Amino acid sequence: PVPVPFHGPRQAAVLAEPARHSIVAAFDVVAQNREELTGLLRELTDRAAFLTAGGAPAALGISGPPSDSGVLGPEVPAGELAVLVGVGASLFDDRYGLAGRKPAGLKPMPVFPDDALEPGWCHGDLSLVLSAAEPDTVLHALRDLTRATRGGMQVRWKIDGFTSPPRPAGTPRNLLGFKDGTANPRPPELDRLVWTDDGGSYQVVRLIRMLVEFWDRVSLSEQENMIGRRRDTGAPLDGADEQDEPRYAEDPVGTVIPLTSHMRLANPRTPGTDGERILRRAVNYDRGVDTNGNLDMGLVFTCYQRDLAGQFEAVQKRLEGEPLTDYVSPFGGGYFYLLPGVTDPADHYGRALL
Ligand code: HEM
Repeated sequence: PVPVPFHGPRQAAVLAEPARHSIVAAFDVVAQNREELTGLLRELTDRAAFLTAGGAPAALGISGPPSDSGVLGPEVPAGELAVLVGVGASLFDDRYGLAGRKPAGLKPMPVFPDDALEPGWCHGDLSLVLSAAEPDTVLHALRDLTRATRGGMQVRWKIDGFTSPPRPAGTPRNLLGFKDGTANPRPPELDRLVWTDDGGSYQVVRLIRMLVEFWDRVSLSEQENMIGRRRDTGAPLDGADEQDEPRYAEDPVGTVIPLTSHMRLANPRTPGTDGERILRRAVNYDRGVDTNGNLDMGLVFTCYQRDLAGQFEAVQKRLEGEPLTDYVSPFGGGYFYLLPGVTDPADHYGRALL
């Protein structure tokens, strides 16, 4: 894939297909005052610009620790990393006197009916999404950014994501075995659905465990009816190819594609729901084994939209109680505002906003 330029009016890396490896992390900002917060955002900007552009790290001091962890060798390769920075509603509380600057639609992620949220895996003052083709690239970047911002922010939670290569073709698969990301909006409507007027975007992160042992005991046809697509090809149940459009109008009672299927509830393609579409960027996660010996894996669901209530929440509300909820369990995440892009080297994240 062509690297996305770092500077620009929007954090355009959102528009790239998910990379093979990513880290999604949220931070608590501990800067003492507004000035320190600005310093933190400046530092974050400079490091992100360097890490994406690549090059030789600053020269070593005589006796201090090296300026770079060395994980990627003596030079940071160019164009291998993408960085996305967002801010949570909690950054706009009284601490920094920013209450009047909060993006209009930003609020803490609510608890939805099927959620089993763990507080330590929720929310944050700042979000970071790092993506690259290799796992060491994103880890190197996380280590560099946390080191450079030490004293200004600390990690609240962090999860590693990965995608599958085409298996055997088309969109990558999630850990339920289904292609995930097929029906995403495309240009030109994409721009209208994703960006706010100031070049930001509302970012939703949902950490959703999949109860895979339980899922693996369900028949294929039941699985496919829960999603609304064929598992092998990713085609809608009334189609032949992954990219075929489902024809709901010809199936009003859901004989072929059940009305309760995930994709039909998520996007019923009825008049008035067009503007509710979201840009999904889901990746898989694996956290090992839980204390009961069950595999702990699932989806790091992220999506982008210009209107949280009118898009993500409208979709999420329709999905409440869907059959798939028996096989998945949301345990974390948060709402963030992806800041407008860093326009040039003099600019920094959040300059116009904060
Ligand atoms: C579509 C899986 C959570 C919104 C799909 C598809 C799959 C899938 C397999 C069909 C392929 C595609 O178009 O990408 C899952 C799984 C989830 C999950 C396993 C949880 C673990 C969510 C959540 C939302 C969501 C939380 C938003 C609230 C959508 C939308 C579509 C979709 C909007 C596209 C529907 C269309 O336009 O036809 N999902 N999803 N999904 N999902 Fe999910």
